[in-house]
Amino acid sequence: MTSRPAKKNLAKKQTAAKKKATTKRSPAKRRAATPENNAKPTLYGNLVVQLLSLLKDEHDFIANAANFSALLFNALPNVNWAGFYFLQGDELVLGPFQGNPACVRIPLGTGVCGVAAQQCETIIVPNVHEFPGHIACDVASNSEIVVPLFDGERILGVLDLDSPTIGRFDDQDAEGLNELVTVFVAHEEGLNADD
Ligand code: SME
Repeated sequence: MTSRPAKKNLAKKQTAAKKKATTKRSPAKRRAATPENNAKPTLYGNLVVQLLSLLKDEHDFIANAANFSALLFNALPNVNWAGFYFLQGDELVLGPFQGNPACVRIPLGTGVCGVAAQQCETIIVPNVHEFPGHIACDVASNSEIVVPLFDGERILGVLDLDSPTIGRFDDQDAEGLNELVTVFVAHEEGLNADD
């Protein structure tokens, strides 16, 4: 991977990913907006603004990924790990993250991250102990969400979040995180377009 990968059709691909985000779970029931169930969309909306502010005028991919992971780790409640794995060949390699030291290499199709990357879809795991092949990097982790990043039509890597709380992540998290990832990669794409 280059430090600033070129990307085309990104928005379309990420939108498709967002639609796929719930394919591993039964569809969420539509509910009327209340202060309770609107909390996550509001939080993620604020995070989009903060992420755009962090990315503004900065072109270094690693620095931006590092700040993105720190933003998520500090802003999202009940999260004990937040970070990236980037695809190199047929394995994912650890990128910028916040949390305990983690496994460095994950083969495609292995663990939650490897399956999400291989299947090109967001995966929500309410209980990691029930996910076949889950890779335990932190014994405190009980639930997980993995969101793929696309480089044009191919997978660039994944964003991975862990929580000590069973069932911590839902469809609203999937939508919010997909939006943030879209903003993040589109920023890098915009930088490439300026080259
Ligand atoms: N649990 C992940 C491995 C990465 S750590 O959670 C940081 C997986 O099963 O792919």
